[in-house]
Amino acid sequence: MIISGAKLLGKAHKEGYAVGAFNINNMEMAQAIFEAADKMSSPIIVQSSEGAVKYAGGYMIHAIVKTLSEQYPHIPVALNLDHGTSVESCVQAIRYGYTSVMIDASHSTFEENLQMTKEVVRIAHAVDVGVEAELGRLVGIEDNIVVDAKNASLVDPAEAEKFVKESGVDYLAPAIGTSHGAFKFKGEPRLEFDLLKEVKQRTGIPLVLHGASSIPDSVRASFESTGGDLKGSKGVPSNFLELAIKGGINKINTDTDLRIAFMAEVRRVARDEPTKIDPRDFFKPARAAVVAMLCERMKVLGSAGRV
Ligand code: G3H
Ligand code: 13P
Ligand code: ZN
Repeated sequence: MIISGAKLLGKAHKEGYAVGAFNINNMEMAQAIFEAADKMSSPIIVQSSEGAVKYAGGYMIHAIVKTLSEQYPHIPVALNLDHGTSVESCVQAIRYGYTSVMIDASHSTFEENLQMTKEVVRIAHAVDVGVEAELGRLVGIEDNIVVDAKNASLVDPAEAEKFVKESGVDYLAPAIGTSHGAFKFKGEPRLEFDLLKEVKQRTGIPLVLHGASSIPDSVRASFESTGGDLKGSKGVPSNFLELAIKGGINKINTDTDLRIAFMAEVRRVARDEPTKIDPRDFFKPARAAVVAMLCERMKVLGSAGRV
């Protein structure tokens, strides 16, 4: 059943675990997420960026997730718009049938971010859709806006308190040092856990960690064994995720790990079986590799066994 993101994360917040929010662009990725959730008895959030909506179509993404939610009726799932850049984009997602929307005005001023979030909250709450916002900026690429280290800024806990009180947002993504993609840290991985705890204590709502892919060694190794290049890549270590959950994170966004796991298998088949022309010969093992990776991740997040 597709349920509201606020309801799904409310339970995680109360019980102290995190739900994985996994990005999709196609059917196979969605199938892998549901299959892993079924194996691990885990709730899930499936999400799509505006780019994914452009690629596959919002009604298509909703239809895929709705069909899978009927195939796995015992799995609680929310469908989230990831990094919505405008009020209109969030409203459009609600029309597609999404049950959660992120309004990401973190590149605007605090006041503009607050006003846009308030507007989305007003509309979304009228139809029982949960709302996520972001404070501070992540380094990396957010919907084609390149955010470099110079422009990145960490969340300010006092601002977060005011923002949550005035906007009525359901869950908040505070920038605490992560970034999108496969190259998260130049030196040793570092996240601002004390800042996170203060934001949690001041806001008292579910918090979200963006840019949370871990790039597990096994996944990196299988990608690189096919000639893929991930030199210099670094993800968020699993024990950091555990600490982040202790600090109040209840939604853990993951896209890069799924992409690498999937593409490693596509590359392997292309390399080892050059006569193959049937997409299913590529996508079947790719989907299975994503399932295996996600099962491990659901254990780390503590969402396994929560259904
Ligand atoms: O946060 C970004 C997600 O990884 C989605 O990326 O805009 O390439 O679909 P995308
Ligand atoms: P990763 O690039 O670390 O997977 O982060 C994805 C994300 O934050 C989507 O919003
Ligand atoms: Zn993100």
